[in-house]
Amino acid sequence: MDNIRKENPKEIIVGEEKFVVYIDEDKLQNRVKELAEQINNDYKDKFPVFIGILNGSFIFMSDLIKSVTVDCEVDFLRLSSYGDAKISSGKVRMVKDLNCDVNGRDVIVVEDIVDTGLSIQYLGKLMENYKPKSVKVISLLLKPDSLKHEVKIDYIGFEIPSKFVIGYGLDYAQKYRNLRSIYILSENGA
Ligand code: IMP
Repeated sequence: MDNIRKENPKEIIVGEEKFVVYIDEDKLQNRVKELAEQINNDYKDKFPVFIGILNGSFIFMSDLIKSVTVDCEVDFLRLSSYGDAKISSGKVRMVKDLNCDVNGRDVIVVEDIVDTGLSIQYLGKLMENYKPKSVKVISLLLKPDSLKHEVKIDYIGFEIPSKFVIGYGLDYAQKYRNLRSIYILSENGA
C-alpha cells in the first residue's frame, strides 16, 4: 500500500470524496496568534487553566499556548460524540475527566470546531459542577448554519460553511489529523 503523502497536498482523496485546501497553514498560524493576543490582553492579571477537548483540539491548543504569554495551566478532557464517520451520534459522553481542580479558577475551554453546539452545551453544564470562577470558550472553527443548541463562543478563529472539514487536528474516521492545513469536502467528488 502506498501510504506516503506529500507534506502539503493540495487535495486529499478519500474513496469517492475529495477534500481541498480551505484554510492554509499561514492563515491558520496568523489567526491563532491573533487569538492568543486577545487572550493575553483579556487575562493580563489572571492565571487561566486551558482545557483542551480531545482529540480534535490538540494541535490548535499546542499552537495557541505557544503564543500565550500569561502564566497558565493546561489540562485535557475527552468527549465522545462522533462515531468513526462524518455523522454525529447526537449523544455526548465524557471519556476522560480533568486531572486538575478548576474550582475558583478562570477556565478557557479550547475546542477545534463547533458544529451543532451539543458538545459545548454539555461542557458548559459539566463545568458548572466544577465551580470555576469564570468559563470562556475558544473554538478554532464554527459552522454557524449548523448550530442547533444555544451556545456562547467567546473567541472564534473562522466561521465556515456547514461542510465536513479535516486536518489540523480534525479527523475523518480518525485519520488526517496530521495535515497542516484545513481541507473541506469538495462539491465535485474525486
Ligand atoms: P457538535 O457537538 O455538533 O458541536 O460537534 C463538535 C465535535 O464534532 C467537534 O469537537 C468535532 O470532534 C466533531 N466535528 C464536527 N464537525 C466536524 C468536521 O467538519 N470535521 C471533523 N470533526 C467534526
